[in-house]
Amino acid sequence: MTNSLPLEEKVALITGSSRGIGRAMALKFASWGAHVVINYQQDERSAQEVADQVTAMGRRAILCKASVREVKALERLFDEVKAQFGALDIFVSNAATGALQPAVELSKEAWKLTLETNARAFFLGAKLAQPLMTRGGTIVALSSLGSHRYIPGYTVVGASKAALESLVRSFAVEFAPFGIRVNCVSGGLVDTDALSHFPAAEQMIKTVKERTPLGRIGHPEDLADVVSLLCTDEARWVTGQVLIADGGYSLL
Ligand SMILES: NC(=O)c1ccc[n+]([C@@H]2O[C@H](COP(=O)([O-])OP(=O)(O)OC[C@H]3O[C@@H](n4cnc5c(N)ncnc54)[C@H](OP(=O)(O)O)[C@@H]3O)[C@@H](O)[C@H]2O)c1
Repeated sequence: MTNSLPLEEKVALITGSSRGIGRAMALKFASWGAHVVINYQQDERSAQEVADQVTAMGRRAILCKASVREVKALERLFDEVKAQFGALDIFVSNAATGALQPAVELSKEAWKLTLETNARAFFLGAKLAQPLMTRGGTIVALSSLGSHRYIPGYTVVGASKAALESLVRSFAVEFAPFGIRVNCVSGGLVDTDALSHFPAAEQMIKTVKERTPLGRIGHPEDLADVVSLLCTDEARWVTGQVLIADGGYSLL
């Protein structure tokens, strides 16, 4: 009997996989046997480093520069998946951006940018993924605790994450007949470049560490591992859920 890896020969597309949590997912998926489409917006060098590591594990890595905010670019991304692999098994909607401003200061331009990048890209991406998932599949969106809690300045990012979590439930029901499961992984604070955009980041990290029962903030791999588990057959009965991975922060 051969011991196959959990994601052996699966094809995975992860948006925003040049850095941070997306990068950790690309590497985890590859270590579990998947081929990976690495999407990024501008940091080609980091994306290439991820691709090199995936290739070194014996898997295929395709680099695809595309802003998920641009509808045509998003469509081209899925066209590329079809051209290179013919089908898709895993789609992770991970790329995100956002203006960090209180609601009263937030402009309508910042609202549009954030909702289009974070929520519309998942909405359109899931619809583009479905016809490519001819063997069934799994879709995961990345959310955060700010979808349902007040975090200073997180206004529109929180709104975009709440939209994702709601969309996950709709897609889970509507894609079930195609054998496609749709879930969300919601994280507490994770140590990535994104934290540098928060005003008073150091103080925020200190406060979160002190409040977190498991005593630290998250590493990208903490979320990547949970997403990977949801993509395995062991999670075959889980769909439409928001799984929180935050070291217990939200319990207190
Ligand atoms: N960090 C946290 O504390 C935390 C907590 C919970 C949830 N999350 C969620 O986890 C996800 C990843 O966060 P992260 O902290 O890993 O982010 P990050 O380190 O800032 O990395 C962002 C990634 O997204 C890409 N990206 C940004 N805008 C894009 C666009 N328009 N089109 C395509 N790619 C784009 C970046 O590409 P380039 O390299 O080309 O710029 C990069 O690969 C996000 O959905 C975030 O909301 C993060």
